[in-house]
Amino acid sequence: MQNETLAVIGTGYVGLVTAACLADLGNQVIGIDRDHNKIARIMRGDMPIYEPGLGELVARAIASGRLRFTTDLSALRSADLVMLAVGTPSAGVDGAVDLSQVWSAIDDIAPNLAQDAIVIGKSTLPIGTGRKIAQRLQQLTGCSIQVASNPEFLREGQAIGDFMQPDRIIIGADSPGVSARIENLYRAQITAGTPVLSTTLESSELIKYAANAFLATKVAFINEISDLAEAVGADIGAISAGIGMDPRIGNRFLQPGPGYGGSCFPKDTLALAYAAREMGQPTQIVEATIRANLARGDKMLQKIIRAIGPVAGKNLAVLGLAFKAGTDDMRDAPALPILRGLLAAGAKLRAYDPKAGAVAAPLLPGLAVVDTAAQALGNADAAIILTEWQEFRDLTPADFVRQLQYPVVVDLRNLYAPAAMANGGVHYHSLGRTPCLPPATKAVRHG
Ligand code: UDX
Repeated sequence: MQNETLAVIGTGYVGLVTAACLADLGNQVIGIDRDHNKIARIMRGDMPIYEPGLGELVARAIASGRLRFTTDLSALRSADLVMLAVGTPSAGVDGAVDLSQVWSAIDDIAPNLAQDAIVIGKSTLPIGTGRKIAQRLQQLTGCSIQVASNPEFLREGQAIGDFMQPDRIIIGADSPGVSARIENLYRAQITAGTPVLSTTLESSELIKYAANAFLATKVAFINEISDLAEAVGADIGAISAGIGMDPRIGNRFLQPGPGYGGSCFPKDTLALAYAAREMGQPTQIVEATIRANLARGDKMLQKIIRAIGPVAGKNLAVLGLAFKAGTDDMRDAPALPILRGLLAAGAKLRAYDPKAGAVAAPLLPGLAVVDTAAQALGNADAAIILTEWQEFRDLTPADFVRQLQYPVVVDLRNLYAPAAMANGGVHYHSLGRTPCLPPATKAVRHG
């Protein structure tokens, strides 16, 4: 099969990584976006999103002549495959998905589609949306356009690695011929041994939701066990290790934290639960995961107040804002409810995040965003760790004792060894582990 030209519609977190990676893998790719400014930024090497290695990858792909970007929809006439990578955000708190960007993209591409082009859903699309796209295209073009599904499983901060070394390639299509044309985009990974699962459109769409809901449930589960471990004096690290030795459970995604966030788990669990209710098959487990994660923000706020004491008027250092390390993304970040609660309780917060400070500032009025960890820690009454950046892992007990007014650390990412922190003079509170206080310690009295 000869190489076919791919157009990627949407150059955001998913579209830009997908376009650049597929070009780097030998495909001819056109990245299309309606946002002139975004296309101009990308063309001058200024990436609109933070993703390690993306700038270099895009530059290399453009230099190779395999990748170009445009706002001109007529470029679609040379595309054999058209991948939809536009945003599908939540439409509201009930979990319905806002598909306005999808329908707008379909209206844009319909008059420009090449003969025999295939339209592929790369964005996370509610089950059945592929069929609806085919119907819309039929109405708009009078032709029967093949629509397929090829969901992504990219983690922010590791998206390029996840794309280049995927665990699997999922394709939903109505015919082997369509599936084969999409598989050909991934010939390099398939040759390297990546398994491919070709299935129906609906199955492919549900695989994406089921995968994210399962992972979110795994996170919510270990968070719940972590709270129980703390209550009974057990160690969550041992529990994660102990259950993770069972290959049916697996040892990944068992790290307790302040709750899952990001652009996917919160949105996709809500969307799956919503779709299931609509189909008359409500998901008790996924709904419980959603509730447990929503409740975690307040649970963490109470934990912080129990550890520090009344926070009104206190200067607190916040290390980490992004929903996880490796990204500047603040979408549904656990820091948001926790810091809003501390601000409402009268705390004075100085926050530092290596990448997300500028993104977070407008979301948290009253929060002072500073440029270094030292500026956040300086003379603060306590420190709170919210994101697992390596820069924070590298801090030592002496760093905290030297810089903080009171050596109290509440670590919601379990970055440090409790004994080392206590022996170093830090009053250390973490998740699923008993609080560690310095030997022969006096309770730290605040104010
Ligand atoms: C996720 C899926 O992993 C990815 O396959 C899908 O395509 C998009 O959604 P992402 O949202 O980038 O990726 O982040 P991920 O690394 O999965 O973490 C999700 C959330 O769970 C983060 O808030 C993270 O802090 C939290 N998490 C993850 C934990 O609290 N503990 C863990 O052990 C793992």
